[in-house]
Amino acid sequence: MNILSVASELFPLIKTGGLADVAGALPGALQAEGVAMRSLIPGYRPVMAALKKTEQVVAFDDLFGAPAKLLAAKVGALNLFVLDAPHFYARDGGPYAGADGQDFTDNALRFAALAKVGALIGQGLVPAFVPHVVHAHDWQAGLTAAYLHYNDAPRPGSVITVHNLAFQGQFGADVFGQLGLPPQAFSIEGVEYYGGVGFLKAGLQLSDRITTVSPTYAQEIQTPHAGMGLDGLLRARAGALSGILNGIDCDIWNPQTDKMIANYSAKILGPRLANKKALQERFGLDRDDKKFLVGIVSRLSWQKGLDLLLGCLATFEACDAQLVMLVSGDSALEAAFQEEARTQAGRIGAHFGYEEKLAHLIQAGADAILLPSRFEPCGLTQLCALRYGAAPIVARVGGLADTIVDANEMAVQAGCATGLQFAPVTSEALSGALRRGANLFQQKKIWKKIQSNGMKTDVSWTHPAKHYAEIYRQVAPPQREVAR
Ligand code: ADP
Ligand code: GLC
Repeated sequence: MNILSVASELFPLIKTGGLADVAGALPGALQAEGVAMRSLIPGYRPVMAALKKTEQVVAFDDLFGAPAKLLAAKVGALNLFVLDAPHFYARDGGPYAGADGQDFTDNALRFAALAKVGALIGQGLVPAFVPHVVHAHDWQAGLTAAYLHYNDAPRPGSVITVHNLAFQGQFGADVFGQLGLPPQAFSIEGVEYYGGVGFLKAGLQLSDRITTVSPTYAQEIQTPHAGMGLDGLLRARAGALSGILNGIDCDIWNPQTDKMIANYSAKILGPRLANKKALQERFGLDRDDKKFLVGIVSRLSWQKGLDLLLGCLATFEACDAQLVMLVSGDSALEAAFQEEARTQAGRIGAHFGYEEKLAHLIQAGADAILLPSRFEPCGLTQLCALRYGAAPIVARVGGLADTIVDANEMAVQAGCATGLQFAPVTSEALSGALRRGANLFQQKKIWKKIQSNGMKTDVSWTHPAKHYAEIYRQVAPPQREVAR
């Protein structure tokens, strides 16, 4: 079965968050299910620079205002279609915003172009690869289903995955005329959303199936509290909506072979201490194995709830615990944490930026990993933490609720705890969870059991890949021969 994935990020070529990890891992994971996935991505500068050998598949004379090319390429095991549209993608900055942090003003057309080409491939533009299903990710690929829907040519099945409902791709009504969609598409059954154009809304409305990245988030987004204005539509489409947990790449995240850390396993945990030492050294903390060391690897945004931590940092002193953070994002929060790290040097260490290697060291050396998210569609960091024997301390929301077994009395007695959960998502509850964690950490036997349970948890893509393959089979049109 051929599947075209359409995404605006793809690890290792371009990443701002977990979407890239997922889009980069799914193709490999799906191979075992007999699925051949190709990924369509924009030809941003770093993507073009990473391509060694390319083949031009199609030339467009005019793709929303200028010529463009569709290239085929391979990077590692990933089979790519790259949309080389220099007028949209050959720019400095990130995938969505310039170096000044401001969103590009033509993002609507930049991603309409991606979706349009995704739909064209879905309808046979590349005879050598005619997909049975087009799988779009997030708002950037949201219009794919619209371009498919409003074109009469035979269609593949369509699936959209919501990685984060907070980003919806909403644009003014004036954009509609530039999209090349027929007038009837500007309706509530189509792409219209509160008087403008909604890219994610269009995908949710017009795709055959909707998935999101955890069962709990699938429920949450159907409520006014977490539905961010789309809950009514999602309730109406509940029959087409499923929650499939993410996995992580267990080759990249393998504490036994990871070249960025001192290696260890669930059985031989001893060498893990070398990572804790390295971490304390790197962040200038007091070097002491016995102190409870909590780590954070995160974007700094309202979603991640780290402002709540600012309200309860005194807990670290009260419990004689330590904190290391690798974070980037909101500049006011960065400044606040920098100040805390300065005044509490030895106890709190902060590094600002994005650093793959340091992320691995934190997972491998911290005793616990903290995620106080206000909402979390899935979360990958806690999955890495489970695999690396750092007990996740998480807010009981979304995928965090689904992936961690709280170390309450019953779970500890039954020997099945893998971390700690707290609710509601407040500074008080967070502080309580940190104290509970520090206390359990002193109970060596219980703590070790929590660690080894986590390390035995299946966080791979094996099970999720089966679930995606099942959905693809259900929506693949019968007239497109599907090899089962
Ligand atoms: P989100 O996509 O909402 O940011 P996820 O948990 O799904 O959250 O994915 C985040 C990914 O980015 C993980 O792979 C995590 O390890 C990584 N990450 C986040 N912040 C940093 C950072 N400052 N440095 C290195 N890796 C980071
Ligand atoms: C989003 C979500 C995160 C999820 C990731 C990958 O960025 O915020 O929870 O893990 O997508 O699906």
